[in-house]
Amino acid sequence: MSKLPPVLQNLSLPVIGSPLFIISNPKLVIEQCKAGVVGSMPALNARPAELLDEWLAEITETLAAYNKANPDKPAAPFAINQIVHKSNDRLEHDMQVCAKYKVPIIITSLGAREDVNQAVHAWGGVVLHDIINNKFAHKAIEKGADGLIAVAAGAGGHAGTKSPFALIQEIRQWFDGPLALSGSIASGGAVLAAQVMGADFGYIGSAFIATHEARASEAYKQAIVDGNSDDIVYSNLFTGVHGNYLAPSIRAAGMDPDNLPESDPSKMNFGGDAKKAWKDIWGCGQGIGSISAVTSTAELVAKLRSEYEAARARLKL
Ligand SMILES: Cc1cc2nc3c(=O)[nH]c(=O)nc-3n(C[C@H](O)[C@H](O)[C@H](O)COP(=O)(O)O)c2cc1C
Repeated sequence: MSKLPPVLQNLSLPVIGSPLFIISNPKLVIEQCKAGVVGSMPALNARPAELLDEWLAEITETLAAYNKANPDKPAAPFAINQIVHKSNDRLEHDMQVCAKYKVPIIITSLGAREDVNQAVHAWGGVVLHDIINNKFAHKAIEKGADGLIAVAAGAGGHAGTKSPFALIQEIRQWFDGPLALSGSIASGGAVLAAQVMGADFGYIGSAFIATHEARASEAYKQAIVDGNSDDIVYSNLFTGVHGNYLAPSIRAAGMDPDNLPESDPSKMNFGGDAKKAWKDIWGCGQGIGSISAVTSTAELVAKLRSEYEAARARLKL
């Protein structure tokens, strides 16, 4: 276990609910935090940009009231995800709003920037940066990130291709700071496995799509309940970066998931076009075989917790 900054200590379950483009929203974040896991959302989900201020007010005020009423069982901290890519023309605005609310954790994706890390540190926040290989992990820490999210094979959205065993092992040879593992984690046993391998947290995305609070269509949620790893397709066609998607949504868009063309990487975009692509083509990781019903976020976290405790008991940990 690594040395964790105070904000990441004392989670009641070592889980970070990962940011989900379009899908995460204040209700999901608040329920994740109340259930004892870090809740997060991309700043870009607040549209227009002015809505971010309102959303951060809602999250901070609701969690402060909850903590006042539950001093023995306070909520976990929340995180905001910033896409640090040149196509994100809102970054400066969104960082100013995050500074106003002193967001406890910033998750940066698609680029590591020293100025962003310094700004977060100036208000006392912690930066976790997501990476898909050891080289990018080194770069992120050199540029001042506090911790890493290792995005391994099988993750929803822009997944990597590395085995989690290889990735965590390589990073732990030189980095003893906060480390989350992402990719197909959707059960309490998998969270414990991530810790046994050397990570501090399981970073879970797709499982939270099948919750009442997630902003996804009922058909999308049901496809996660019905699907398993055979239904996940890895392609770079939709955003220019390789990611994992649900095959039924690709079929519904009139394409053959088994014969998708390659995309042009110069068309990589996380602006308006990306929103359209992600609405019709459903991002999803390979771990969804463990999801058998659409539930509340509180029920999902309770299930993860009991599976985690059962796995610990089985291994006498
Ligand atoms: C629909 C969808 C949207 C996502 N959007 C983002 C995003 O906006 N920013 C980000 O950093 N990661 C995003 N991700 C990646 C997740 O944060 C996380 O790495 C991944 O979901 C973990 O794998 P899992 O889905 O197998 O649990 C997205 C994933 C999915 C499935």
